[in-house]
Amino acid sequence: MNRCIVAIAVAVGCFSLSTAPGNAQSAEAGQAVFKHDCAICHDIAPGKNKIGPALAGIVGRTAGTVPNFHYSDANKNSGLTWDVVTLDRYLVNPRATVVNTTMSYAGLKDDQKRRDLIAYLSTLK
Ligand code: HEC
Repeated sequence: MNRCIVAIAVAVGCFSLSTAPGNAQSAEAGQAVFKHDCAICHDIAPGKNKIGPALAGIVGRTAGTVPNFHYSDANKNSGLTWDVVTLDRYLVNPRATVVNTTMSYAGLKDDQKRRDLIAYLSTLK
């Protein structure tokens, strides 16, 4: 029951992120975006760090807190929490949100793809 309420709140939150007309976010489509853009550097299994830290449980997590991953000071000291809104801002242009991050990713400009991707990230426990 509570999970449903949370899911609805997240869905509404995602809609309000963009003024562009668009479809609801789809975690399934987001998985494809993840495989294409992120999987080369990020695993979704807890504790499995690659070039980037494992993204298990990323939504709601404090930045820079995956054990045994060597973060940049920029990320570690960012003070960010990876909620849906912050992830959206970050993924559009990582270096604008975390100046001097070592994440070499130019950003995902497509609003729909970003919404889908974040919906997928929300499923990672
Ligand atoms: C070329 C490798 C690379 C790619 C591609 C990449 N990342 Fe990263 N990512 C990193 C690295 C390295 C870090 C650590 C950055 C730092 O410490 O400054 C990171 C950090 C992050 C963080 C912060 C994690 C934390 O624990 O604070 C998130 C969230 C993230 N990446 C999501 C993504 C997503 C989603 C994608 C795909 C759209 C992506 N990354 C693509 C390498 C990459």
